[in-house]
Amino acid sequence: MAFLTWTDSMSVKIESIDKQHQKLIGMISDFYENIKTRSNNDNILKLVDGMKKYTLEHFRYEEKFMQQFNYPGYVEHKHEHDLFVTKVNALEEKYKSGKIIVSYEITSFLKDWITNHIQGVDKKYSDFLVKNGVE
Ligand SMILES: [Fe+2]
Repeated sequence: MAFLTWTDSMSVKIESIDKQHQKLIGMISDFYENIKTRSNNDNILKLVDGMKKYTLEHFRYEEKFMQQFNYPGYVEHKHEHDLFVTKVNALEEKYKSGKIIVSYEITSFLKDWITNHIQGVDKKYSDFLVKNGVE
């Protein structure tokens, strides 16, 4: 069984966002596979960098719509995004300076975070953004 797979139960009923979530989940799974097979350091860092960039792009995409339509849960949602970015940056710095090794603990953190975030706060905006015509 794959480490993490997107399922219909994760759908926020907005195609563009579902696609981005699928891509993110694919990236986290790749990352896990690379750690499992003890891929080299450069590969790991490249994957981390790719995930960071894509996550930021994705967060901005969601936030743009929430702001545009005055979504009432925007501040709380943006805060979750910001906390995640801070945490990932801190993990990356620790890894680069040799203070931690990339471990299953990190892949589990990513997996749990994305799953809970989609099922929790992302689903909360679903009806609101759909009503505002976001596809
Ligand atoms: Fe989100």
